[in-house]
Amino acid sequence: MTVAVLFVCLGNICRSPTADAVFAHKARALGLHRRVHVDSAGTGDWHIGQAPDVRAQRHAARRGYDLSVLRARQVVPEDFRRFDFVLAMDRGNLADLQRLRPGPDGTEPQLLLGYGSSGLLEVPDPYYGGDEGFEQVLDLIEDAADALLAHIRATRL
Ligand code: 4NP
Repeated sequence: MTVAVLFVCLGNICRSPTADAVFAHKARALGLHRRVHVDSAGTGDWHIGQAPDVRAQRHAARRGYDLSVLRARQVVPEDFRRFDFVLAMDRGNLADLQRLRPGPDGTEPQLLLGYGSSGLLEVPDPYYGGDEGFEQVLDLIEDAADALLAHIRATRL
């Protein structure tokens, strides 16, 4: 049994590639990398084909996460069939995903931070802000990724 997890933000260059790399790293550390398929995508099309934002790469690298090989892509309707978890970074992404979902058979999108313990439900967009925004993205995602992995191990694997 494998589980497929898709992280979604607006541009697929800051938050969702960070979540992709953090979650994959944690799954690997638990020896679950062959049982968990991880990917990320954006609801927007502006950055298709681009590597993650250099600031996101730099902050993540300081914590041991390599974002450099990731390339942005846009969400497609098949994602709701291929992925068991479709996890939005904020309520705007969630609303867009609810519109893109092809029908009730497709995976129902959720907020990633619904699994976290920070008290926040949205990962704030760091794109127009400073360094502290990128650090907050990492803090929130690390916390939620641990809880999501625990949930998947308990219910799916
Ligand atoms: P992300 O951040 O959704 O976390 O990848 C953004 C990246 C680009 C833009 C907005 C947010 N943009 O407007 O181009």
